[in-house]
Amino acid sequence: MRLSILAALLTALAAACSPGVAQQAPSTASAFPAPDRPVAEIVSPVWLNEADRDKARESEQVVQLMGIAPGMAVADIGAGTGYHTVRLSPVVGPRGRVYAQDVTPEYLADLERRLEGAELDNITTLRGAPDDPRLPPRSLDAAILIHMYHEIAQPYAFMHRLAGSMKPGARVGVVDLDRATWLHGTPRDLLRCELEAVGYRQISSHQLTGGVGYLAIFEPPAAPIEPSAIRACKGQKPPGV
Ligand SMILES: C[S@@+](CC[C@H](N)C(=O)[O-])C[C@H]1O[C@@H](n2cnc3c(N)ncnc32)[C@H](O)[C@@H]1O
Repeated sequence: MRLSILAALLTALAAACSPGVAQQAPSTASAFPAPDRPVAEIVSPVWLNEADRDKARESEQVVQLMGIAPGMAVADIGAGTGYHTVRLSPVVGPRGRVYAQDVTPEYLADLERRLEGAELDNITTLRGAPDDPRLPPRSLDAAILIHMYHEIAQPYAFMHRLAGSMKPGARVGVVDLDRATWLHGTPRDLLRCELEAVGYRQISSHQLTGGVGYLAIFEPPAAPIEPSAIRACKGQKPPGV
């Protein structure tokens, strides 16, 4: 079975079995537009089982296309169970750092338990907010948002604040399936529109092999755009809405 079909089935199953995590718009996001399309509920800390992801060489593809190398500081945003975090740790090595960040406290606690036994001492775990990744300022060479962008409740505020954590020349990579946000994907054009609205510039977009989805790579804005100047992009709505 193709990975994307399996992933769709798992996502649908998780959505059916879980009440999801309801997300309120925090007052700290009020200066920013809300997304003009559905936001997917948080239903699972993982996209797909690790063996199938390794078979698809998901981590290697992301590392190679993003140019992640020893000594870099990289944020795994929405790290979940840490599939990418534990694979990035040896890539960036002892002089590098991986920030494993997530908004869901229980997922982060489980990840911390996983890391305790792993002898990986270049990982920092961090809890973010739905409108703010809360990463240290000007600290990152790269940030990856893997199968999670469609769950960010306040994407304009979130991506605006993420830009302040990136070093000059840093890259932000988003992996997602090219389908509607309420089906746990993000159409490529919508992603580009939303990030460009905040001042990011798309550098490249790649179809990943093995049914993993696409990877779109962006350069963060050199100077932040005023929140009041950001206009929301119109995305697809579910039929009948
Ligand atoms: C489907 S899981 C994917 C996890 C992991 N990136 C992977 O590829 O397996 C989505 C994750 O994103 C997290 N998430 C959703 N909204 C978030 C936000 N605003 N900031 C940080 N994490 C968020 C969820 O808690 C969940 O752990």
